Amino acid sequence: MSVAVLLFLGLGLLEAEGRRNRCFFNRTQEYCKCYNLSEETIGSIIQCLPATVVEFQGGDLEKYIAFPIGDLDSSAIETLDSLTIQKIIIGNVLVPEILLARVLRFFSYTHVQELAFESCIFQGTGNWSDMDGQNLPILSLSFHNVTSAPLTGQEQAFSSLSSWLGTLEELAVTGSRITSLPCAIGRVFRTLHSLDLAQNSLGDGSLSPAFCQGAFPQLQELSLRHNNLRSYHSTCKGVELLLELQHLDLSHNELTADPSPSCQWPASLRHFNLSSTGLDEVPTPLPPKLEVLDVSHNHLHAVDISLSSLKKLFLDQNLLQAVPSIRNYPMLDTLHLDNNSITELPRDEVKLLGRLQDVAVADNPFSCSCSGAGALQALAAAGHLGQGWPGDYRCHSPAQYQSWPVAQVPVSVLHCDPAAVVAPICVTLALLGLAGAVYVARARPCRRA
Ligand SMILES: *[C@@H]1O[C@H](CO)[C@@H](O)[C@H](O)[C@H]1NC(C)=O
Ligand SMILES: *[C@@H]1O[C@H](CO)[C@@H](O)[C@H](O)[C@H]1NC(C)=O
Ligand SMILES: *[C@@H]1O[C@H](CO)[C@@H](O)[C@H](O)[C@H]1NC(C)=O
Ligand SMILES: *[C@@H]1O[C@H](CO)[C@@H](O)[C@H](O)[C@H]1NC(C)=O
Repeated sequence: MSVAVLLFLGLGLLEAEGRRNRCFFNRTQEYCKCYNLSEETIGSIIQCLPATVVEFQGGDLEKYIAFPIGDLDSSAIETLDSLTIQKIIIGNVLVPEILLARVLRFFSYTHVQELAFESCIFQGTGNWSDMDGQNLPILSLSFHNVTSAPLTGQEQAFSSLSSWLGTLEELAVTGSRITSLPCAIGRVFRTLHSLDLAQNSLGDGSLSPAFCQGAFPQLQELSLRHNNLRSYHSTCKGVELLLELQHLDLSHNELTADPSPSCQWPASLRHFNLSSTGLDEVPTPLPPKLEVLDVSHNHLHAVDISLSSLKKLFLDQNLLQAVPSIRNYPMLDTLHLDNNSITELPRDEVKLLGRLQDVAVADNPFSCSCSGAGALQALAAAGHLGQGWPGDYRCHSPAQYQSWPVAQVPVSVLHCDPAAVVAPICVTLALLGLAGAVYVARARPCRRA
């Protein structure tokens, strides 16, 4: 019985004669992977019992829709309770919702904390009333590249599942062509900390309804990476009610830095990702208490902002010609400027850059004048240049050093500032000469006398 239940938990009853169809357990990783399980090879699932992660790949569950699933006897419950499985991954499976609705409650006897569906098709609609008031140990739920009936119109299901969903901490629905999220759904997720909606089709207009008053009241991390967002202003408006938000990822959208004087980002925002968003200027306003700002992979020509709490600033892959003034970021410890158009580190900034823990300026067209190469070598010697030194730091000018590694440009005093060495020698010689002359001059009258 318990094996049958485990089977249902994994939805692993699959048809696949003549194909690779059994489970493989990797003891080192405590990972068990099952391919196209069928009734004949179901015995091999036994070896998954000591696993922490079990993955089921492939199949079609349609023929089990009518399968009678009763309640569990006490020994089955005991077995489920003794399992150490923490995560179940279900991939490339056609899942009838009717079946899912009937087996989901069995998870309440397990310690499974994470459930992930990848490349699955959810079919039909289930009757979820068995889940009314039911809690599950699952805290993290993820769907990637799944197809299902539209979320609108599934209010009944969400209401039956609300006891459990109200305790969920992490939810990911990625790569699944989502265009909107009804307001009522967000209100079910009362304790959700992290929501990943990357690689969907959410547009500017879909945010305000999704993050309406009372939706996701405890949300701290939100990823909207790779969607159809266009307006910085509308995006700000769309998330302004998420008062606990700390991390926001807007990378890989084509944003326009339209002015948004009337919108305030949630004051709790600390990490902001605007990487690969097509920006040619830093948009305003920025969340004022940011600690991490990623504006890499854009078309920025200049950066003139100040943020008093900022610790990490990522500006790699832009068109910057100068290092931004470090004075604007008193708390900064990390600055990345790789792949820009910077020719030299300004003399008065080098000392400040030396105070940071991690500076990266690789793949810039450096001018290897004595001061230019010298500043980089000094920074590297102090151990502050991160990855890329010395290989990715090359001279662009002057002609005699073109494509030389910056690290190999001679910057000794004799080479760079001969006057500094020669002058004292000349002076010394001159003084010696003078002293000699005086001595001789003095000595002569004596001799004469
Ligand atoms: C188990 O996983 C480890 C780490 O990935 C790997 O080195 C090892 O070859 C795997 N063992 C088997 C039997 O597949
Ligand atoms: C997405 O899922 C479908 C099945 O629903 C599958 O055929 C397709 O290969 C998957 N795509 C990716 C990129 O995994
Ligand atoms: C920002 O997003 C990009 C692309 O999605 C990612 O590679 C990068 O690591 C993120 N930056 C930070 C600071 O997390
Ligand atoms: C700079 O850009 C080039 C070409 O796009 C890329 O190959 C290289 O990895 C980049 N370097 C860094 C440090 O990002």
